[in-house]
Amino acid sequence: MAASPAVPENRPPEELNRAVILLGPPGAGKGTQAKKLAAKYSVPHLSTGDMLREHVAQGTPLGVKAKPIMERGELVPDSLVLKIVAARIERPDCAHGFVFDGFPRTVAQAQYLGELLKQHGFRRPFVIHLVVDTALILRRITGRRTCKTGGEIYNLFERPPKVEGRCDNDGGELFQRPDDREEIVAPRLHAYHKQTEPLVAYYRRLGLLHEVDASKSVEEVEQQVCKTLHHARSKH
Ligand code: AP5
Repeated sequence: MAASPAVPENRPPEELNRAVILLGPPGAGKGTQAKKLAAKYSVPHLSTGDMLREHVAQGTPLGVKAKPIMERGELVPDSLVLKIVAARIERPDCAHGFVFDGFPRTVAQAQYLGELLKQHGFRRPFVIHLVVDTALILRRITGRRTCKTGGEIYNLFERPPKVEGRCDNDGGELFQRPDDREEIVAPRLHAYHKQTEPLVAYYRRLGLLHEVDASKSVEEVEQQVCKTLHHARSKH
């Protein structure tokens, strides 16, 4: 049998030209998978959690309002989040698509996003629901540590750094998010079930929902996400 031709190293990335939404409870692996997808398609990874944390760190008026809400594990009001998302997707790097992580999180946000995508000439998004059970969520959230400099995500139970407290990539200090403390996980899950889970039915009704078992290893979930997206892209 003839060997398959080698893929040229300088091959341009596959074009996404869509919004991909990673939907799922806290700790489902949205950030982990969003980074990989964004790199694969050379599009931005848009995490509303990261954008809000940036505002908090810089002490902007929006950050000052968001900080106590996030620390309680509740959702930041739609009006604040929609403003930063609308401004972000205006930027030229979003012209060929983007991967949302943590947005939309309410039906109102999803409806607004639908309009925003139309205005920017995008077709309907691909929505990937990362399904994972509560026991695993707790382990993933309380074990998470993030690099202060590069943002690399670790997990003390599943993927510990080689040197305790330091990033394998750049030696940056690893920190625990204030909302990852065990006592904040319950309110975050409550907010998810009450305000975000209805999006599963919302996107299913629109025929846009694809489910992936996110309890598997990072690599297996990544493979499944890519396969699902590939299949969805070939259909629409
Ligand atoms: P946000 O930052 O979006 O947090 P979240 O949705 O609670 O999600 P997480 O970041 O906790 O988890 P993840 O699914 O990204 O998992 P990760 O890949 O990191 O939001 C924070 C707050 O901001 C909200 O509470 C709210 O206040 C506010 N906010 C944000 N967006 C908002 C919006 N749109 N509207 C209103 N308010 C908003 O993985 C978790 C851990 O598990 C890591 O340690 C990782 O290494 C590990 N892991 C991941 N995948 C696997 C795997 N397959 N196997 C083993 N370990 C894994």
